[in-house]
Amino acid sequence: MFRMTRYIESLMHPTPVRPVPKPKGPVVIWNLIRRCNLTCKHCYSISADIDFKGELDTREVYTVMDDLKEFGVPVLILSGGEPLMRPDIFDISARARDLGFYVGLSTNGTLINEDNIDQIAQAGYDYVGISIDGLEKTHDEFRQKQGAFAASMEAVRLCKQAGIKVGLRFTLTQDNFRQLPDILDLLDEHDIDKFYLSHLNYSGRGGRNRKRDAWYDMTREAMTLLFDHCHDELKRGIQREYVTGNNDADGPFLLQWAQQHYPDQVPALAQRLENWGGNASGVNIANIDNLGVVHPDTFWWNYDLGNVRQTPFSKIWSGTTDGLMQGFRQSPRPVKGRCADCRYLTICNGNTRVRAYNVSGDFWEEDPGCYLTNEEIGVAEVPRRIAAAAVEIPVNNL
Ligand SMILES: C[S@@+](CC[C@H](N)C(=O)[O-])C[C@H]1O[C@@H](n2cnc3c(N)ncnc32)[C@H](O)[C@@H]1O
Ligand code: SF4
Repeated sequence: MFRMTRYIESLMHPTPVRPVPKPKGPVVIWNLIRRCNLTCKHCYSISADIDFKGELDTREVYTVMDDLKEFGVPVLILSGGEPLMRPDIFDISARARDLGFYVGLSTNGTLINEDNIDQIAQAGYDYVGISIDGLEKTHDEFRQKQGAFAASMEAVRLCKQAGIKVGLRFTLTQDNFRQLPDILDLLDEHDIDKFYLSHLNYSGRGGRNRKRDAWYDMTREAMTLLFDHCHDELKRGIQREYVTGNNDADGPFLLQWAQQHYPDQVPALAQRLENWGGNASGVNIANIDNLGVVHPDTFWWNYDLGNVRQTPFSKIWSGTTDGLMQGFRQSPRPVKGRCADCRYLTICNGNTRVRAYNVSGDFWEEDPGCYLTNEEIGVAEVPRRIAAAAVEIPVNNL
């Protein structure tokens, strides 16, 4: 995750650059259930409104949670499918909170209503992230359910009214990038605390629909808009948090933005970004799926590291001799093509491997989702080795 606000703030009000403390355990994104009331076109978990057999039961979830706590996992993001479809979600959430985890709920919001908002408030989530992927028509088409947008925005209203910290989670595609300014207006209108721009990752239905990924020019425009918007809000004293995920080129792209706005601060920002270290799959990010299978992150559901029913998470995570995991933990990662030669490799850490794998079949190929030009990354004379997933890439971007 790229914490844009923090870095822009550091440009405006410089403080000494400090090393980032290494967390003991990874952040765990936990897909507690695969069932979902929606069937979104990009869904990495290929969720649908059917019963998926063999999911971890409450007791098993508690056993895993104890192990995660002991292993030093600081954050649990409870996700799905739609986590609110799990009958024991509030018991699980209460236990996670009692054990002292930072607990986030990742939900489509459509099942939040007047009847359960008190329970949600009592669960004491540190943060509730609600997905909004465009304005009403676009969102409903993308999420394949009429009325989804209205229901999710009503959930935002209810959560805010109940005093819960709320974020919007927006996955950028060709279909919604033009609507970003309107979505940013919604943040103000509803006094939303956080905005998470998620780049499309190519797995599950997101892999099948990767041709809908934003073109490089669109992503660049969206990111520039976001930097400007965040900067402008900070200047006006608005403390909203902006973060992005699934494209670690965002770090170097901010560095280029800083070159125009705060040229004196560029060396300090470069150092801060190196300390952040870019992509964290398999290192500071982990995933447990609904069946208890551990993956390097949420987008690697076709890549298993072990099952918590047989082996504790702590053992799977620390004891792995798996090749992909060893690559993730290598520095620099054994990336190829333009990623290998990129001048920003120490900042982005080779970006998102699942996209490279989905398009090329090779874990370590260059990431086709990197929207920086060859000139920017310092490999002007080297052509891209694999075509970007989005069709009809404007020629000047290749
Ligand atoms: C799998 S959903 C589960 C939680 C809940 N059902 C929801 O939609 O918010 C978690 C988050 O991942 C995002 N997501 C799903 N597939 C994705 C993909 N292929 N690339 C990027 N983000 C994705 C969703 O938009 C959502 O914000
Ligand atoms: S992205 Fe979320 S809401 Fe959409 S189908 Fe997947 S789990 Fe359900």
